[in-house]
Amino acid sequence: MSQIKADIKDISLAKKGRERIEWARENMPVLTSIGEEFRIRKPLEGVRIACCLHITSETANLLITLKQGGAKPFLCASNPLSTQDDIAASLLKDYKIPVFGIKGEDKKTYYAHLRTLLEQNPQITMDDGADLTSTLHFKEYLSLSEKVWGGTEETTTGVVRLRAMEARGVLRYPVIAVNNAKSKYLFDNRYGTGQSTIDGILRATNVLLAGSNFVVCGYGWCGKGLAMRAKGMGARVFVCEIDPLRALEAVMDGFYVLPLKEASKIGDIFITLTGDINVLREEHFLRMKDNVLVGNAGHFNCEIDLQALERLTVEKKRVRDFVQQYRLKNGKRINLLTEGRLVNLSAGEGHPAMVMDMSFANQALSVEFLLRERGRLNNKVYDVPAQIDERVARLKLKTMGVKIDSLTSEQREYLRSWEEGTR
Ligand code: ADE
Repeated sequence: MSQIKADIKDISLAKKGRERIEWARENMPVLTSIGEEFRIRKPLEGVRIACCLHITSETANLLITLKQGGAKPFLCASNPLSTQDDIAASLLKDYKIPVFGIKGEDKKTYYAHLRTLLEQNPQITMDDGADLTSTLHFKEYLSLSEKVWGGTEETTTGVVRLRAMEARGVLRYPVIAVNNAKSKYLFDNRYGTGQSTIDGILRATNVLLAGSNFVVCGYGWCGKGLAMRAKGMGARVFVCEIDPLRALEAVMDGFYVLPLKEASKIGDIFITLTGDINVLREEHFLRMKDNVLVGNAGHFNCEIDLQALERLTVEKKRVRDFVQQYRLKNGKRINLLTEGRLVNLSAGEGHPAMVMDMSFANQALSVEFLLRERGRLNNKVYDVPAQIDERVARLKLKTMGVKIDSLTSEQREYLRSWEEGTR
């Protein structure tokens, strides 16, 4: 089992992990303050929480916070390539938190780890991408769902899946869509993905972005962040969209907007962040220039049609740690980053702690909310309560030393009079 493997993987690995966890904590003051409060109040006493998240130094700090609140958290990976083994080793050794995940685990092991987590009879699930929740609902674990009090979901892709389950009437417990908190998506999805995707591309390739033609497929919050940061590095940014409003936004944000078939001919770097399948496919690969980079920053590795790429290929070789080069029958080379998996978490460390601070503060407070409201919620996907969202933003501002204004009583009265129809 990987838990044992990670154990054996040795003390120096765990030491490196501990140092990185502590380094990240320095940039997670909101989560740290919640942890300190939790340690005194113990609002999560004895609660078993199954967490399926990217195993990173930031996630480690979330798990430590849950434990400070009295919970018994367990962790498995939400992606086979995003696990940081030193962090897994330290969580096991230094923090006595069970972890099931090892970088590069195959699909079978990945799902075996999900099942191991479910076998701990969780009362709360905390998911990133809804693999844990859907395994619980659709595989042999449905009876377990009766004992689950609630869950949280970290990412856009997961929320889309859970909302579909709710609409089909198959969701068996309430889930809080942490992704949809403003203090999450406006920062994590935009600035986190923007920076960490650039970081992942650079760590994998060390290419120069200035002067390159950079194609962003999808202009949601993640795509917006990436386009903005690529532009900041001097790239010429092209945006491909299917949604007219987002496309219009991209145009007015100053980007070139065009169909992917056309962008395929001019791009040097292509990144998908759409949440859908086969965004880059045969018709695009065949039009690409020689030696382009192709990668994905969406949650699942389904955005690049790898089967089509294989079909078109005569020779394949690993040219760098995270780069697989495909030579097509037409002689052109396509460099695939991190097997089409999340480039920011596979070649890099994921979003910086400073931004995960807010996402994971929302997670911790949402778990507390689920416990407080136990029995009063329906089997639906709920937004993070506005009070939690606002509290996280206020705490973040405070830790950044930023003060803001508040309404005068006259201004409050003016607004209230409109609400009450007395004006
Ligand atoms: N998702 C994106 N970046 C992450 C990080 N650093 N830790 C956990 N989940 C993430």
